[in-house]
This record gives sequence, C-alpha cells and structure tokens, in this order.
Amino acid sequence: PELEKWVDEVPRPSVLKPDGRKKGKSYYEVDMRQVEQQLHRDLPPTTVWGYEGQYPGPTIETKRGEDVYVKWKNNLPEEHLLPVDETLHGTGPDVPDVRTVTHLHGANVEPESDGGPEAWFTQNFEEVGPTFEKKTYWYANEQPSTSLWYHDHALGITRLNVYAGLAGFYFIRGKHERALDLPKGEYEIPLVFQDRTFNDDGSLFYPSGPEEDEGEPNPDPSVVPEFFGDTSVVNGKAWPRLTVEPRKYRFRMLAGGNSRFFNLKLFQYDEETQTIGDPGPTMTQIGSDGGFLEKPVEISDRLLLGPAFRADIIIDFSKYEGQSLLLHNNAPSPFSGVAGEDPDDVQPLPEIMLFDVQEKNKRCKRDRSRIPKRLARVPEINPDKAVEERELPLVEGVDEYDRLKLLLGTREHPNGLNWDAPITEDPKVGTTEIWDLINTTVDTHPIHLHLVQFQVLGRRPFDVDQYNADRESGSVGPISDYYTGELEPPAANNRGWKDTIDADPGYVTQVIAHFGKFKGLFKDFTGEYPWHCHILEHEDHEMMRPYEVLPRED
Ligand code: C2O
Ligand code: CU
Repeated sequence: PELEKWVDEVPRPSVLKPDGRKKGKSYYEVDMRQVEQQLHRDLPPTTVWGYEGQYPGPTIETKRGEDVYVKWKNNLPEEHLLPVDETLHGTGPDVPDVRTVTHLHGANVEPESDGGPEAWFTQNFEEVGPTFEKKTYWYANEQPSTSLWYHDHALGITRLNVYAGLAGFYFIRGKHERALDLPKGEYEIPLVFQDRTFNDDGSLFYPSGPEEDEGEPNPDPSVVPEFFGDTSVVNGKAWPRLTVEPRKYRFRMLAGGNSRFFNLKLFQYDEETQTIGDPGPTMTQIGSDGGFLEKPVEISDRLLLGPAFRADIIIDFSKYEGQSLLLHNNAPSPFSGVAGEDPDDVQPLPEIMLFDVQEKNKRCKRDRSRIPKRLARVPEINPDKAVEERELPLVEGVDEYDRLKLLLGTREHPNGLNWDAPITEDPKVGTTEIWDLINTTVDTHPIHLHLVQFQVLGRRPFDVDQYNADRESGSVGPISDYYTGELEPPAANNRGWKDTIDADPGYVTQVIAHFGKFKGLFKDFTGEYPWHCHILEHEDHEMMRPYEVLPRED
C-alpha cells in the first residue's frame, strides 16, 4: 500500500516497571504476546508480536552496578505469524514452530542468562531447547553505561521473531552519566530504525522464498539471502514525524532491521514540494554500542548504522526554528561499504523520518544541557597483550538445496563451519585476543560477539582473489601473505566499545577483545557464547558459531 508520509508522531516506548524484588534486586516479568497495533494512520491494525504486547517492547532502565532479574515468558499462539523454513538448523517437524529466547545484545552476562539460540522455550516453558537452563535471567550490569537492546534469538527463526516485533531497549545508567548534563527526560529519545513491508490488509509481509530459483527448486517456505522492507518504521510507526523544540536532544539510536544498513544525514526539507534542500544540523556522537566515547565526535558527513549498531547522538535544533528536517539514508542494500556506493542499489530506503522543529514558545524550557568536552575514560586494550590472533574467514558456500549459504571459518577450516561443528574459538578467561575477520565475500557483514565489548584496531586490504583461490585448492597460507596495504585505523566514532562491527569485503577487520574483567569494568564469565553475522537471514542460515571462554588454569 502507498502510505502517506509524516502523518503519525514517533511513539516513545514505555518504561517497564519492576514486578517486585528477588534476592533484594529488581525483578521484572516480561510477557511475549500477539497483539494488533496501529503502525500507520491509514493502515488497518497489524498483528505483531510484542514484549508486554508492545512493539517495540518497553524500555528496561537499570543502574550500573545494580544487577537485576528478568523472567521472559512466551505467551504467543501456537502458530507462527510468518513462513517458517523447516530445513534450517534448529527447525523441523519435531520442533515447535513458535519458540522464543531473549538475548540481551551487548550484555556482559553469564552464559545461562545470555539467551543463546538453543535455550529457547515455548508457552509456559512446556518445551525447551537443548541448552535451556533457567527461566529467570540474571543481568550483572557491571559494564559501562550504554544502550543495550533485547531481542529474540531462537535458532533458525530469529529473523522471523524479530521481524514480528520482538525487540526493545535496555539502558544501563551510571552516576557519572548524570553528572554530564546531557539532554534528559523528554529530551532524550530512543529511536529504533527498522524496515518493513505491509500487505494491503495491514499484515506484515515477509517472503516465503526467493523470487527466482537459481539451482535446485527451493524448499517452500525457504529462507531468503537477505530481506529489505520498502517502508521505514521508527519505534513501530511507518514514516513518522517527530515534533521537537528548537534546542538540543539526545537520541539513543539503534539499527534494528533484519538486513538493512543505515547511512544517515539530516537535510532541510520542504514538505509541500517534497524537496530536499541544504544539509541540516550535524550529529554529534557521544556513545557507541558499549558506552560513551572518550570525546564527542562530530559526524562530518553521514552516520553509518549497521544491523544492531547503537549510536548515542546529540542534535541541536536551535538554529532550525520552524523548519522540517528529513533524516536521509543513502546506504545501498545489499550493503558493501560506504565507499562502494552501488549503482545497482536494489532496495534503497532514502527517507527515514521527519523532524519538525517548532518555533520557540513560552512552553519551551531553557536548554541547560551541554555537550561536555570529555565524556568518559575508555581504557585501551593493548595489542601487545594479545595471547592469540585468530584468522577467521567469512566465506560463501552453498547448502544442500544449492542456496547461497554464508559461513564463518578458521585457519584450519577456511571454507567455513556450520553452527553445530565443534568449538574452534576458546579464549581463556582474563586473556586478550585479536580476531581477524577476513571478508572474502562481496557484501559487508556486521559481526557480533556475545559477552564482550571489543575495540576496533582497524582494517587492512588483502588479495581476495588469491586468498579464495588458495582456499579452494586447500593451500591457504597465513593472512599476512595476502595483505596488499597497511592497517587503516578506525574512524573516530569507532574508537569506543563495540559489540558489532561492519566487516567490509576485501578487508581484514581486526578487533581486540579482553575476555574478562578489565580495569574495573565488566566481569569474568566462562562458558559458551555465540558469535555471528547480525544480518538475521545469515545468522539463521549458518553464519553463526559458538565460542567458549575457558576457565583459568590453576
Ligand atoms: Cu543481537 Cu546474537 O545478537
Ligand atoms: Cu552476514
């Protein structure tokens, strides 16, 4: 359906209230339910799945250093809202179609509470997955103040459960943050950017298979290689507008689509003629996935948000009284890096939302917020301390139906391993490692590690063709044999804590992680965690591996 743009206000997710105390700490119960929700003025109500019956789910507000308990409950119907491919890992005729497990993305958390893909459960916990251990999760909150987000992670159907609506914000706030005088209260707004496609009756459209069959006939339904919706949905409203006062705001941004990258910039916009004018205010980034940056970074051109990235952004609207501003996206889809803006961009989504800056009036409070020069200390993880450097190729393969299947590999298995292959990455708790993400494919993959917040060392170009030829002939050498240039350091806004990083094609993206407590931040945890591509169609189709943090040797 053709939906008129900018008719609904951006809703603000509600804040969840604790249901009581457990072991002296805040205790929450969160119910997943199927509900009907109005996603646009002119669209019939859409059936969605929501935490507490809300899409997006309510925001959980926590304090740094104060642990909390959350019981996630599945009260969804027995039938799935969207087409389930029963040939993917973790699925099948013997597995219930509607199963859920909630992962708190970016959390430094014990493995039993991580919400891993096989720890799923059904209504009333009647059936549970093989790694299910407990109903009530424990979140330590011993990490820097930041925006985390919770979302479904059930093996083989994550893309469908998240698309149906299962995602929400989780904030950790520290004392230090309060002292920073950032815009707060009604001037601090979480924004989750997603893309959806609607049927005329208002229902969510998700493809039941690829448009064209390339090899063998596909199973029906079949997973698709990627999914891009044709409609921008922000906080659960299609093409919305946000009325703001002429002052500073803090936006907690999250890219929450299945496959889509967002590359964002504000422009002045004439609503009558629907024309884009000069650039609008710049964005100042103060935080990344895992916490504040050391110093604010003024985004000179565009802000890149890959799937699951968060950005803590200040925008000052004071010079734009009475104007409309368009949040514009120019990321090609599929995405292969900003430099590679692609003329065959097949599924662009240029218009994201509108900001409507009011004239100053008596009700506008004085803006006492400020952007401090220094935000936080981000202690550097020292590469000299790394005890291991792992070479991890991102590779293309095919499955038994001849469908494109993306995989993660190792030095010994350069053609990739499936999710259920034995563990190959096993850092010891309290040690530092460098992971080289060797992208041999043609697209950018947003790679996410559970448990840790890592730092980006940079990216280095390499000879993809030679590497792939050697990989296929079984003679691939160490990655150092293939470099074609020097390490390019990360952009200023990627110099903080990250848990998901865009690994561009043709590059080895190097990240460094400390698996344990680090300079007063984080906690030691041991056990199994996933790492994976956050393009949900890839993650559901084997681009995910387990890793294990081993205990200390005595
Ligand atoms: Cu946000 Cu394992 O994912
Ligand atoms: Cu991927």
